[in-house]
Amino acid sequence: MIPFKKWFGSNTEGEEAARSLAADNIPNHVAVIMDGNGRWAQKRGLPRVAGHHSGMKNVKKITMAANSIGVNVLTLYAFSTENWKRPKEEVDYLMKLPLEFFPKEIDELVANNVRIRMTGWQEGLPEYTLKAVQDAIDRTAGNTGLILNFALNYGSRKEMLRGIQQIAQDALDGKLKPEEIDEARFSKYLLTDPLPEPDLLIRTSGELRISNFMLWQLAYSELWFTELAWPEFTEERFYEAVQEYQRRARRYGGL
Ligand code: FPP
Repeated sequence: MIPFKKWFGSNTEGEEAARSLAADNIPNHVAVIMDGNGRWAQKRGLPRVAGHHSGMKNVKKITMAANSIGVNVLTLYAFSTENWKRPKEEVDYLMKLPLEFFPKEIDELVANNVRIRMTGWQEGLPEYTLKAVQDAIDRTAGNTGLILNFALNYGSRKEMLRGIQQIAQDALDGKLKPEEIDEARFSKYLLTDPLPEPDLLIRTSGELRISNFMLWQLAYSELWFTELAWPEFTEERFYEAVQEYQRRARRYGGL
């Protein structure tokens, strides 16, 4: 018997790994730094953007895998505030991906009760990118299943600085006292509010760093790294990451 509430599809890779997971210890929120697209493409003699295109195709596969085991939030780091430094052609290409992804995939996402969300700054994004994302958000607003959260034009230090500025202003305006600023209160000033903090962070492509991604929110997340580039990251590897997560003892600084 398949122990998960949302199992669908019978031929996905890694079914066995998925079945072996403890249904009562599925990470509520999984965040992914989808790295290695460029190198994956270049190794194959393809332009870097071909890697981003293959990476985009992998988004649905991993979303469905996460959904199938009962993950509630999947955050994907799609574009950072630092990625604007890349060549204009590459940035333009990345900005157009939502225009291809959402029209192509939205029906299936809706059919699977997935809700789209964005974490990042709207300012600076092209109108067409925003519209594609906003249309998907609107179309899925009534859904109650997995939240597929795109971190788009997102940077954690900027997010925290903006939160600090707002909280300082609220204190000046008499809305709260400095001594009332605790972790829960500060979290409300972050772009991720009201999402839960990630339980598991996956980074592909062998890089062992956080790259300005959810620095506050990842304080107690379990980290899992793989040498595989994002375009070649499979459902099977995703379930393996969750298996490893289930073997970890989360102590939050206690014993
Ligand atoms: C990092 O790999 C990846 C990105 C900057 C872009 C990730 C975006 C996607 C996978 C598509 C997202 C889809 C939608 C619909 C928004 P890199 O190219 O920096 O890898 P490298 O280190 O090999 O150069």
